[in-house]
Amino acid sequence: MKQLPLFPDGPSFQPVVNVASVPQRSPFRYPGGKTWLVPVIRRWLTSLPQKPVEFIEPFAGGAIVGLTTAFEQLADHVTLVEVDSQVAAVWLTIIESGDGEWLAQQIEDFQFTPQRIQSLLEKTELSVREQALQTIVKNRINRGGILAPGAGKLKNGENGKGLASRWYPHTLRKRIVDIVKIRDRLTFVHGDGLAMLRQAAGLPDRAYFIDPPYTAAGKRPGNRLYMHHDLDHRELFTIVSTLTGDFLMTYDNNEHVTALAQEFGFDTRIVPMNNTHHARLTELLVGRDLSWLS
Ligand SMILES: C[S@@+](CC[C@H](N)C(=O)[O-])C[C@H]1O[C@@H](n2cnc3c(N)ncnc32)[C@H](O)[C@@H]1O
Repeated sequence: MKQLPLFPDGPSFQPVVNVASVPQRSPFRYPGGKTWLVPVIRRWLTSLPQKPVEFIEPFAGGAIVGLTTAFEQLADHVTLVEVDSQVAAVWLTIIESGDGEWLAQQIEDFQFTPQRIQSLLEKTELSVREQALQTIVKNRINRGGILAPGAGKLKNGENGKGLASRWYPHTLRKRIVDIVKIRDRLTFVHGDGLAMLRQAAGLPDRAYFIDPPYTAAGKRPGNRLYMHHDLDHRELFTIVSTLTGDFLMTYDNNEHVTALAQEFGFDTRIVPMNNTHHARLTELLVGRDLSWLS
């Protein structure tokens, strides 16, 4: 039988992605999370003529890339931006408000029973730090970590061990406490990533990692994964073309995005990735000059 090539498009670059070399730093399990891309990000940032004074991640989500950059001091400072208020509550609590230790302790003490979970998830009118706890719990019990309305809940957890098999309070506590320790290297902004990019566009010595919700064309997976999925991708490309600093964008590998990148004179590379179901898919990297990948 004829063997079909795994990558019929012929990816121009195949990263050696050893995800085991990427410490899990984020308290989220995030849909569309980019842990697998971290080795590529390290390579990109260390290829720059000088260390960026600021690394800006305007669509932060679980922020594994920005966190790794801060922990490994691949930039002097890291600014994360996220519009979703559930996600923002977590980052505001850990990075901005000084309530990270409180959140870590609440997680450690939380009785992860169906009753306690339900009563926490039903609560409204919460303070930011209480909403952070609610978000972390929701992120653990919703299928795929999806926080958008309509997300299914896990029923049996892993290996039939029940929901509690999804709850790693010590690990989560440690991740949060570790981020608190380096929070002077981090800034979190609850707001619009496009506005942040416009504001920072003319500044020198910045680097931007841009991982937008993808809803430009095709199957529109972003619609069910994120509450905020509407984005004007042409507008994003227009702003990105005005950035003084270097940037790396990541998208689903899709003709529409490839055409947009060509129109703006950007460089593209197709890279293989594993999705959560371990199916081989390809992703498109977009940058000003991606020759550092070759
Ligand atoms: C593909 S996900 C980012 C995943 C992230 N790179 C990670 O590894 O976890 C895109 C994120 O952009 C957020 N988002 C959507 N529109 C936004 C906007 N205008 N400004 C800031 N964030 C936005 C979504 O809520 C979602 O968290």
